[in-house]
Amino acid sequence: MSRRQFLASAAACGLASAVPPLIVSSASAAGSRSLLRAETRILDIGGRAATVLGLVQPGGAQGLSLTAGQDFQVRLENALDAPTLIHWHGLIPPFGQDGVPDLPQPLLKPGEGFDYAFPLDTPGTHWMHAHTLQEQQLLAAPLIVSDPEEAGLDEQEIVVLLHDFSFKAPEELLAGLTGTSAPMPGHDMSGMGANGGHGASSGGHGSGGMAMDINDIEYDAYLANDRTLDDPEVFRVEANGSVRLRLINGATATAFWIDTGSLGGEAIAVDGNAVAPVRGSRFPLGMGQRLDIRLRVPKEEGAWPVLALREGAVQQTGFLLATRQAAVRRVAPTGEAAAAPLDLSFEAGLRAAAPLPDRRADRNHPVLLGGNMEGYVWTINGKAWGEHQALQIREGERVELVMRNASMMAHPMHLHGHHFQVVAVNGRRIGGARRDTVWLPPQAEVTVAFDASNPGTWAFHCHQLYHMATGMMIVVEYVS
Ligand code: C2O
Ligand code: CU
Repeated sequence: MSRRQFLASAAACGLASAVPPLIVSSASAAGSRSLLRAETRILDIGGRAATVLGLVQPGGAQGLSLTAGQDFQVRLENALDAPTLIHWHGLIPPFGQDGVPDLPQPLLKPGEGFDYAFPLDTPGTHWMHAHTLQEQQLLAAPLIVSDPEEAGLDEQEIVVLLHDFSFKAPEELLAGLTGTSAPMPGHDMSGMGANGGHGASSGGHGSGGMAMDINDIEYDAYLANDRTLDDPEVFRVEANGSVRLRLINGATATAFWIDTGSLGGEAIAVDGNAVAPVRGSRFPLGMGQRLDIRLRVPKEEGAWPVLALREGAVQQTGFLLATRQAAVRRVAPTGEAAAAPLDLSFEAGLRAAAPLPDRRADRNHPVLLGGNMEGYVWTINGKAWGEHQALQIREGERVELVMRNASMMAHPMHLHGHHFQVVAVNGRRIGGARRDTVWLPPQAEVTVAFDASNPGTWAFHCHQLYHMATGMMIVVEYVS
């Protein structure tokens, strides 16, 4: 049995293992519809029971594992006692099936279901999540689209979704940030990162004396596949084997550095799109972003942690790779020193394996990111969601979005319905990565380009959930 077969059977996800991996025809996949149920589940977080949400197949697998070239044929059922809807982050669906509430699909009521069907052309490490505060309740799961051309690789795939977890309800976390429900002076700030609670919040970014701000919320736990480092997942690997990590940052408000330690590795894809391989052992991963790392397990028996370090803080989560016989040692859930804030040095060095064809932009849209901690309102081009003015484009155009972050927090900016290419970082033109979510540190400028080929009115927003919820969202709208 190859590592790949072993993994497929171990994963035992109903559809993925029932479908031969090499089917490439799209129409013939008719009939093989996957069922996904949004439901509640119970996790053990540090010995305490946590009721969270999840996206589960009838066989118990979380999320979906599909093959490019087939159709995306999924029935989503809402088994929660609240309305919900799921966005397919990284897929390129037609506008009607994107899963953002009221853009254009309404929320599914409890007990309701919806059948999604569209061609699945682009392979990659993607994910799915509620586009509401339910994302904080872990209503998120991997959505892996494998490339039939890679089916022959003798490589073990390991999928890990990162998250941040709080025992508080997301509404309470949000109210703590906006100050809407807390009694004013001396209100309970426990759990919130305001006023000096930030691990490394001082920064030299002089803009009117404002300090750079990193983490807004002190979570109760940071998770890798629903587990903390007190009880991490241990993936058994073969000595000298090849491993592909498919890492997803599903956290709502936490960016991580992925630390592969002595294993090192090569970043081979970001947001599901291949890049020229970049060697390293520490890679940035903002909210919403994905990263594929290929690495070689050493020839000896052993166990190696792969960590996700919370930026600007000491907390960490992660998992272990271990050969069959190896004993596994404990890794502490906090490191010794605060990790640095994410920056653009990795991004600026990325080169798309399949860049956009060279072409001048037909249309440029400036996108100014603004806001501050006082009042906790976040804006795009000076307006919060609701007052926003759509960024209009026409089908067939090459469009460039010139994003400038005028605020003192970072923003992972995500465009729906398209994969863009990063074409400039702080004023320098590059043939950067194709991706769907890009990190904007405070005071940074990043330009992305895409070809307007998927008509609709597409969400474009910050993937920090509380920034989005308090205004940092706009639409890119096709007009004729
Ligand atoms: Cu990952 Cu607008 O979403
Ligand atoms: Cu933001």
